[in-house]
Amino acid sequence: MKRLLVAGLLAPALVVCSAGAQGLLNPATEKKIDALLGQMTLEEKIGQLNQYSSPFDMTGPAPSQGAQKRAYDQIRSGLVGSMLNVTGAEATRKAQQLAVENSRLKIPLIFGYDVIHGYKTIFPIPLGEAASWDPAAVERSARIAATEAAAAGLHWTFGPMVDVARDARWGRIMEGSGEDPFLGSQMAAARVRGFQGKDLAAVDTIAACAKHYAAYGFAEAGRDYNTVDISESTLRNVVLPPFKAAADAGAATFMNSFNEIGGIPATASVHLQREILKGEWGFKGFVVSDWGSIGEMVPHGFSDDLAHAAQQAIAAGSDMDMESRAYVAHLAGLVKSGKVDVKLINEAVRRVLRVKYALGLFDDPYRYSDAGRERAATMTPEHLAAAREVARKSIVLLKNDGLLPLDKTVRSIAVIGPLADDKDSPLGNWRGQGAANSAVSLLEGVKAAVSPATRVLYAEGAKLVTGPRNFSAPSVYNTTDRSGLPAAVEAARAADVVLLAIGEDAYQSGEGRSQADIGLKGLQDELVRAVVEANKRVVVVLMSGRPLTIGHVADAVPALVESWLLGSQSGHAIADVLFGDYSPSGRLPVSFPRHVGQEPLYYGHKNTGRPGPESSVTWSHYTDVANDPLYPFGFGLSYTTFSYSEPKLSATEIGRDGRLTVSVTVTNTGKRAGTEVAQLYVRDLVGSVTRPVKELKGFERIDLLAGQAREVTFTITAADLAFYTARGRWEAEPGAFRVFVGGNSRDLKEASFSLR
Ligand code: BGC
Repeated sequence: MKRLLVAGLLAPALVVCSAGAQGLLNPATEKKIDALLGQMTLEEKIGQLNQYSSPFDMTGPAPSQGAQKRAYDQIRSGLVGSMLNVTGAEATRKAQQLAVENSRLKIPLIFGYDVIHGYKTIFPIPLGEAASWDPAAVERSARIAATEAAAAGLHWTFGPMVDVARDARWGRIMEGSGEDPFLGSQMAAARVRGFQGKDLAAVDTIAACAKHYAAYGFAEAGRDYNTVDISESTLRNVVLPPFKAAADAGAATFMNSFNEIGGIPATASVHLQREILKGEWGFKGFVVSDWGSIGEMVPHGFSDDLAHAAQQAIAAGSDMDMESRAYVAHLAGLVKSGKVDVKLINEAVRRVLRVKYALGLFDDPYRYSDAGRERAATMTPEHLAAAREVARKSIVLLKNDGLLPLDKTVRSIAVIGPLADDKDSPLGNWRGQGAANSAVSLLEGVKAAVSPATRVLYAEGAKLVTGPRNFSAPSVYNTTDRSGLPAAVEAARAADVVLLAIGEDAYQSGEGRSQADIGLKGLQDELVRAVVEANKRVVVVLMSGRPLTIGHVADAVPALVESWLLGSQSGHAIADVLFGDYSPSGRLPVSFPRHVGQEPLYYGHKNTGRPGPESSVTWSHYTDVANDPLYPFGFGLSYTTFSYSEPKLSATEIGRDGRLTVSVTVTNTGKRAGTEVAQLYVRDLVGSVTRPVKELKGFERIDLLAGQAREVTFTITAADLAFYTARGRWEAEPGAFRVFVGGNSRDLKEASFSLR
């Protein structure tokens, strides 16, 4: 069979390449790198592969002793190639001066930082942004984040995080785009385009980093850093597509991952890094390890000691060592003893230098560190407006028995719950330099939206978190203090309508924040019961970094919105939706389970040999909980309703070079304007390896006035049907297919075709 390329992206959600991998490979630059490499000592070369987290305050006095003094001296001697966590125009300028004005070859440092959903202006967490199903909006969010970060002297973000995640227990599900490889690929490419723009050398663009390569999201039982053991088929067909999309969009760097896959730590995986990324995909940038992941190969039971780990990591194609200090300590000795070929070092250094050249750092190492631009380009009204716009697009309306939208002239409204006036949680984890407590809370958003005559009551009800709240401290969610409940009940009773803000706080999701139970923590269930007893007109505003098991809450209230953690403008964006200034258009990028025991739960599962009949006992099911999710992937309501015609196919058979179109008329059948996300799924009925029951292959956001109808046309080519087959190739297999169109992954109209 002819090998088909993974062009696999359907109109209308096309990917356009930005500063691509080709942009990194420039003959003139390669010559400069040859010349520079010729002048470098082995130690200086290894220095380029050595990355430290800011070891001391760059704007303070020079350290005079200990590890800080050692790092200071190493930077001055050209033994450090990159730093992370140095931020701000002044600090980055000082750090750069240390390297450039003191080292022999004056090679600039590259400054990296986790700019995941904004730098100072904080956008929704990536899982929330993915719910917008709007790659252009997501690209804009990344573009603004890059503009702010670059003005603060940063060159490089450790983003986008493109891990497909299908287990809501995993805390880092908040950082990615959810469960689906196709949606994930669209978002990955959009973020790379946004961060990198058209020209990496521009002073408002930064290098992207696709992470965590690979399969970090497939940790067993959703426990962070845990073992991964997946097949080559799952790796290629589910895990890798968003990475490939990021590489195709020109991501200048990749980060490997903490996990092992099938017994091999990703950091030492020749297969992932050399064969696939640098081999098959022709990636020309560099791979940075994850924090300490080279050193972690010792406890993994893969390396004897740090020296052995350094040897294995460089051999496997991990180019830069983030904070294991393995390369700086051991690579020179390993080269001298003949255990590591110096060619491996040269190649890794070449890759790092390539990115530094592309960023323009050799022309002017200080070009990004501009205090004036930092002030002018940060948290501008335009950036805040964009953050509000993306935030309201990210909100998903899960239930509405007619209570929403609310009237702004309502007589009284009670805003209740531990997250109701929380100005910090909406910033989420991985919030860059977003200042603590700087988000617009729901209470503030509501007060700003309602009429002057409306009485706004507030009660916290119960605290969600006791103790510290920050990236490194474990938070405690077992509060037992019921003293605030009576005031919440009283407020609920006194108001015409209640907004109940519950869910998760900022640091309940993110790195190291896996949970075995994804229900509501603390006294929140009790609070819901008490409030609903006092007033039936309750809108639950669910803030969370992951799907939660909230079926009982959905049953108890007439309206439920998932608002994730929406960033700086959270309260305004939620008010925009609740009061009808914006008709909700978000759709779930991840299935919401009925019960945690269903996890991992995802729409694109396999059929199994026993998909039914449901009347028997011996079919693939649980005896106590249904198989299907509470809310399926792709689901989200609007303030209007939409209907779909039967899909019309331009042909019922296509050849390998052919194409067919799938057309469907979408009608706004309600009384208000609204936005629908039309979704196209395909099922390959028989494969040389079995195929999922449905795979998203296209989507389009369409704005429709009340009563308006529009035809949406998707195009399918053989390339869109390709997958990694049993022959170890990316190709489409002839046979029968089903195609589905509709507004979510469950409620679909279908037709059939075949590929010759
Ligand atoms: C995370 C990465 C992050 C790095 C640097 C690690 O713990 O896994 O995603 O980029 O730290 O902050």
